[in-house]
Amino acid sequence: MNPAQQAIGRDLICVVDANPLYQSDVAQALTSTYRVSTFAEQNAALEAIAFQPPTAVVLDENVSPRGGLALLREICCVPDLDRVPIICTATNDRSLFLADATAFGVRTTLVKPFRRSALLGAITKEINGKVERSWTRIEPVQRAALKRTAKVFTAISDLMADGLPMPYETLRHSCAPLVEAVTGGNYSDVLKGVRDHHNYSYVHSLRVAMFLTLFGHAIGVRGDDLIILATGGLVHDVGKMAVPQDVLNKPDRLTDDEMAIMRGHVVSTGSFLRDSPGLPRGALVIAEQHHEKLDGTGYPYGLKGKDVNELARMATIIDIFGALTDRRAYKAPMEPEQALHVMTQLGRQIDQHLLSMFRTVLLDTAKTLEL
Ligand SMILES: [Fe+2]
Ligand SMILES: [Fe+2]
Repeated sequence: MNPAQQAIGRDLICVVDANPLYQSDVAQALTSTYRVSTFAEQNAALEAIAFQPPTAVVLDENVSPRGGLALLREICCVPDLDRVPIICTATNDRSLFLADATAFGVRTTLVKPFRRSALLGAITKEINGKVERSWTRIEPVQRAALKRTAKVFTAISDLMADGLPMPYETLRHSCAPLVEAVTGGNYSDVLKGVRDHHNYSYVHSLRVAMFLTLFGHAIGVRGDDLIILATGGLVHDVGKMAVPQDVLNKPDRLTDDEMAIMRGHVVSTGSFLRDSPGLPRGALVIAEQHHEKLDGTGYPYGLKGKDVNELARMATIIDIFGALTDRRAYKAPMEPEQALHVMTQLGRQIDQHLLSMFRTVLLDTAKTLEL
């Protein structure tokens, strides 16, 4: 990651631990993903947390002079700080501190030594939990669009791990409010609702589902066919759940081996979806062909020209547009106009006629949309 990438919009995690070795271990584990501030002492930590509330706090039992629980109480008493997610750590799983912290409402605790992946997973879970709880404040249709798609995404991850299929009816149910939000023209809260979510695959898939539905609706797709666009968009990358996180989230160029693993997501997605009872062919086509290019340079099949299905051509455009305008920890989102310009430069790789139609759709319907 270069310094410019490091500076972009990264979340701040505050680590409080009086043991300098543990403190630097934890900070080291977080530093490639987050900005990190470290403290050993209670008052200095509270002052810094109150001055600039972090995205999350990793709080150990060992804090000078009065211990982690005293600081936890202080943080929870400050009105603006009571919603900051806190992960508590201790060196012993019978620690009184962890029991007290849990009784105090802390949801996530870790016992040292813990793996870096366990810490990162705990922070992601806490941050996403906070984002998902904020959805209770938005309108019912948009709220249902977010809640149902997030729920189905978690369910797919569990099913894939167990080698089980997902019935299309479940997917259809999860996408119905999303389609309703788009056809009713009230989808900006859906986009805003996932801005701070840390499950990038979910965020990307939701945005692809939404823009694909928006595109389809604007060019006359209706009824069940719109649901096919939404569900196809939502599941188009589910095979990425089998790709290791360090490959998936690598900000630098992938090696040839890593690229092969990454590209394998299309086949993984296809084999999961082909087992899904009732899945319409259109949704499968979107998933299996969204990396094909009209000039034959795409993958996994290297399809060319008319062999690339029209739904997949739309999905390719939305997928690239989504990837360029997605917000990542290491890159700012590209402006929609610039993304469309970049896609024009792709020439015969993508369907330029469909791209110009999508451009019109965006200009007509999303003028004031905050992507
Ligand atoms: Fe993909
Ligand atoms: Fe994608």
